[in-house]
Amino acid sequence: MTAATVPDIATLRIGVLCGGDSPERPGSLASGRHAHSALTAAGLTAELIDVADASVSGLKGAIDVALLGLHGLGGEDGKIQGALDTAGIPYSGSGVLASAIGMHKPTFKKLVTQARIDTPRWAVVDPDISVSATMSIVRHSIGYPVFVKPSSGGGSLAAGIAWDEAQLRPMIEAAAEPGHYAEYLIEEYIAGIPCTVGLVQVDGRLVVLPVHDVESKNEFYDYESKHDPSQREEHCPSILPDQTTQTMAHTAQAVYHLLGAHGVLRIDYMASSAGRNSLLEVNTLPGLSEHGNLATMARAGGIPYPELIQHLVRTAFTKPGYLP
Ligand SMILES: Nc1ncnc2c1ncn2[C@@H]1O[C@H](COP(=O)(O)OP(=O)(O)OP(=O)(O)O)[C@@H](O)[C@H]1O
Ligand SMILES: [Mg+2]
Repeated sequence: MTAATVPDIATLRIGVLCGGDSPERPGSLASGRHAHSALTAAGLTAELIDVADASVSGLKGAIDVALLGLHGLGGEDGKIQGALDTAGIPYSGSGVLASAIGMHKPTFKKLVTQARIDTPRWAVVDPDISVSATMSIVRHSIGYPVFVKPSSGGGSLAAGIAWDEAQLRPMIEAAAEPGHYAEYLIEEYIAGIPCTVGLVQVDGRLVVLPVHDVESKNEFYDYESKHDPSQREEHCPSILPDQTTQTMAHTAQAVYHLLGAHGVLRIDYMASSAGRNSLLEVNTLPGLSEHGNLATMARAGGIPYPELIQHLVRTAFTKPGYLP
């Protein structure tokens, strides 16, 4: 589809979907509020919709397009995308398939490993095998320290480092308990600097935004340092060597196409002191807060926040076609 077929968004009723019941609800409400303010301040017709209080089928006929400010399970994993497809409502960002793969870190890691892209070695915690057997797999195939996180999580929630077996054992036991997350992932720990690269479609063209790097004052880039600017030091454009940032930017584009992502994607890496750029994960619906990473990268790339949000709305009309 060419840019000429994108409707004038000034003629549309834009539903800004946010909230929901994901563990990432607070961040999503912030995404929704900021994006909604930017659209209305630009004179556009936009409604803020908390998906915890609204059914997608009920939005049919009430909005012309959905801007997704949802993050995590239920919002970023293909479910709402499928419901919107079924209701015939165009929506920003990736479709069902890329959303689902992007949300499930082990599946995504298999995909990039096949393409020979560096990602930390990993094992999935299988509740059907004993804790001792899992410890043995980790000892032989990964080594210590390791990083433990939900397979389908986000926002650094329920994640942490295990420096040795004594620390890992209770984490594996806790992973089997009922909670938000059905599955956990154990990864090779990469010491280094967390980096992220944003990609956004502008007038039908994929723009690679400047790399963002961050040094957390905590043990890793955890929930607290993501939400409290005094707990981190960040740079955008990144102060890492050009060769590092160029490699990340290049890999990011490859990942976008490999995943079949659409419109926007944020790709997270660890830049290790040993020169490794290891791909951690992707975010098909990155945070939309005005001072979040995506908006910061966009500004550094010459795209002011209100324009970024409008470009995202337009991505609803440039999807190449339906993929399951
Ligand atoms: N294998 C690893 N080695 C070292 N640190 C890691 C590793 N995996 C994750 N981390 C740390 O945890 C942070 C969050 O990891 P990751 O991006 O994989 O999770 P997330 O919760 O999905 O993040 P997001 O907020 O982007 O959704 C990283 O920035 C990094 O500081
Ligand atoms: Mg991340």
